[in-house]
Amino acid sequence: VEKISVGLLGLGTVGSGVVQIIDQHQDKLMHQVGCEVKVRKILVSDIHKKRDVYLNGTRLTNDPSEVLNDPEIDVVIEVMGGVETTREYILQALRNKKHVVTANKDLMALYGSELLQTAVENQCDLFYEASVAGGIPILRSLVEGLASDRITKMMGIVNGTTNYILTKMSQEGRNYEEVLQEAKDLGYAEADPTSDVEGLDAARKIAILGTLGFSMHIDLDDVSVEGISHVSKEDLEYGDQLGYTMKLIGLANRTDDKVEISVQPTLVTHSHPLAAVHNEFNAVYVYGAAVGETMFYGPGAGKLPTATAVVSDLVEVVKNMRLGVNGNSAVIPQFEKNLKSPEE
Ligand code: NDP
Ligand code: HSE
Repeated sequence: VEKISVGLLGLGTVGSGVVQIIDQHQDKLMHQVGCEVKVRKILVSDIHKKRDVYLNGTRLTNDPSEVLNDPEIDVVIEVMGGVETTREYILQALRNKKHVVTANKDLMALYGSELLQTAVENQCDLFYEASVAGGIPILRSLVEGLASDRITKMMGIVNGTTNYILTKMSQEGRNYEEVLQEAKDLGYAEADPTSDVEGLDAARKIAILGTLGFSMHIDLDDVSVEGISHVSKEDLEYGDQLGYTMKLIGLANRTDDKVEISVQPTLVTHSHPLAAVHNEFNAVYVYGAAVGETMFYGPGAGKLPTATAVVSDLVEVVKNMRLGVNGNSAVIPQFEKNLKSPEE
């Protein structure tokens, strides 16, 4: 491989971070993968929009086939969001034998099995580290670092926007609406922030964690979800006076005979480590039968942290290309639809 050509779908918060990291970390990338990495084309909605990113000759297009059918493009990075159209694009990319990296939890929580299956059938990689907990490499840790253990429980803060809102409301006494707007401006919130504040984004992430951690398909409909849109400053103040901090907590718990998955606002004592996770940061406890308790902490949203996870997936794809093992990676479990855990 002399050069890796990347096609990007989306040049918003995450996409511009990906372009920036590929440009500014080129030496490091060369060292990792042994060749130049170049973004060849980028799909956007509006090619005339003013962009605050150095494009270095990369072409913008609003025609998806220019990226998906370009024989020069080796890897498609999907950072445009959305579900149905995006699913079609990713299927097309995989059928055209392009490896795919995505940050899209909405898509992976709904269609992950189908997309991963298609990737395997086409000897392609499909990686999605950035889809859960932004810059924290938690998916790879689950399926590689903790591969030998039996995961029994995962619990924590997996949405940056709501943690930002709860932090600012409780620490600075600010209004919900004002802080939500700030989270949008900072690029943490989804295009439609309803999914953040109503807990759906966290539900998708906890479903992905459960699917990987427990090696079983977790259906989104099985996640019980409550968001924070009804939480008032007064609720937070009362909690504080009693020694508690409110956090939106995702939980995936399995016992011998059942699995429980939920997202809900939860009061944690001030002394609990999760109470000290502020702003857009995320933290996830993972409990294994053998390892015991582990905790993963870091920025859960935002341009560069998320882009770091995306570009690291790209590095993994290229390393696999060199070894000729794409489509076999340990990061992709072999899901089947409606399956039970292989351990059962
Ligand atoms: P943005 O809204 O900032 O960017 C979306 C980009 O995709 C824009 O460049 C937009 O074009 C383009 N786009 C959207 N729809 C289409 C379409 N139908 N056809 C062509 N181009 C399209 O989103 P983010 O960067 O914040 O998020 C991208 C993905 O990453 C989402 O799946 C999100 O959930 C995920 N993610 C985001 C994180 C974050 O912190 N923001 C963290 C982790 C994951 P144009 O610029 O012309 O409008
Ligand atoms: N909207 C998401 C969040 C982005 O706030 O956590 C990261 O997935």
